[in-house]
Amino acid sequence: MEKAARLFVGVPIPAELQNGLEAYLRTAFGERMPGRAVPPANWHLTLRFLGATDAARHRRVAEELGHIDPPPPFDLTVAGLGAFPRAGRAKVLWIGVGGGADELRALAASAEAAAVRAGFAPEPKPFSPHLTLSRLDPPADLRATIERAPAFTGRMRVDAFVLFRSHLGGGPPRYEQLLRFPLDRS
Ligand code: 2AM
Repeated sequence: MEKAARLFVGVPIPAELQNGLEAYLRTAFGERMPGRAVPPANWHLTLRFLGATDAARHRRVAEELGHIDPPPPFDLTVAGLGAFPRAGRAKVLWIGVGGGADELRALAASAEAAAVRAGFAPEPKPFSPHLTLSRLDPPADLRATIERAPAFTGRMRVDAFVLFRSHLGGGPPRYEQLLRFPLDRS
């Protein structure tokens, strides 16, 4: 049988914002970024994690994502460090979404509906827009780190969402862009 693919739906980060955010993190943390940093090439905004997906469901979800009536392209700002589950015991360090969060939330809701139509179980957790910067194992207290970090605001235009395949192995995963769904379909 064909191996299940580990899939997720997300928004890739354009090179300009990637460069700006990299420069900011160098200034803010230097070589002392807490935890295991996500390589900048892997940065993305997750809309819907699908997980291990067999070939039939893979086809169905690709089709349903294509049926989404997309919002027009929109501007998004990335700002504000935070942590999951909380700064005092952080497992994930992230940067949040300011402007464009409502539009991103609507897009995540469309991806969620498409996933459910394709046969995935509904996602019980509410959508929380964020860009994961690093993962911490064991968890750490990042309250002071987050409080002291200088402010940063980065901008990008969201003009597409992507069905990604995550290839796990030793080291960081490799994210393959399987299908790109432009927002502007005119
Ligand atoms: P996040 O880093 O934006 O939180 C690809 O694996 C992406 O899917 C990850 O970057 C992560 O998003 C999200 N993800 C991975 N495993 C997950 C899980 N078990 N549940 C929910 N989201 C997950």
